[in-house]
Amino acid sequence: MRREEFYGSSGFGKMEKNALNLYGLTVGPVETNCYILWREGRTDALVIDPGDEGEKIAASLRERGLSAGAVLLTHGHFDHTGGLSAFLGVPVYLHQADLPMLESPELSAAFLTGDTRPRPTDALPVSDGEVLSLCGFSVQVLSTPGHTKGSVCYLVDGEILFSGDTLFQAGYGRTDLPGGSFSELRQSLRKLLSLEKDVPVYPGHGGATSLFRERRLLWNC
Ligand SMILES: [Fe+2]
Repeated sequence: MRREEFYGSSGFGKMEKNALNLYGLTVGPVETNCYILWREGRTDALVIDPGDEGEKIAASLRERGLSAGAVLLTHGHFDHTGGLSAFLGVPVYLHQADLPMLESPELSAAFLTGDTRPRPTDALPVSDGEVLSLCGFSVQVLSTPGHTKGSVCYLVDGEILFSGDTLFQAGYGRTDLPGGSFSELRQSLRKLLSLEKDVPVYPGHGGATSLFRERRLLWNC
C-alpha cells in the first residue's frame, strides 16, 4: 500500500514553536519509506532515505516551503539511495562501511530490480556514537550492523528513531544480502533495547512502531 502521510509534530500532538514535524512518503518498487523532518519555523529539512522518485520527494519539500538541508542514509542498499540525484549539492551522510555500495550495483543489491542508475558517491561518513547537528536537530548515530555492515539507526533529539532496515514493525531486516550477518543483527537489535526508553520507530519499510512495542521481538531474536 502506497502511503503519503503527515505523521504530526513533536509528541505527535499540537503544533508548537520549535516542534518537530514529520512527513513520510513511500517511494519506488519496493515501497521504501522516505521521511522528511523539519523544525517548525525553519525551512531546512532532513531527508531520510530518498530511496527513489527523487523528484516527487523534492516536490513534497517545495509544497511545504522547505529545502533539503541534509540527507541521512540508514544504509547503502539501492532502494534507499535511488532518489539521491535529486539532491545534488546537499550533504549526504552514510556509515563509512556502506560507502562502497554507492558505486557497486552488486554490493547495493541493485540486481534485485535491475536499478543500476549511478548514485552520487560523495557521501560523508558517519560512525557509531557521533552526534550531528543538522537542520536544528541533534542526530545521534547508532551503528546497527547486520542487515548491512554499515547499517545505522538515527536517534533524533533523543525522541524519535529512524531504524532503516534494521527493525521493522514486528520484524527485522534480511541478512542474506552482501554484508549481512544475523549474529550482528541480533546484537544490534539488543543494542536498541539498551536505550531503555520507549521511542517511536520509523522503519525503512512498512508502518511505524515503537521500541517497547517490539520489546518481545528484540529480546527473543
Ligand atoms: Fe536494505
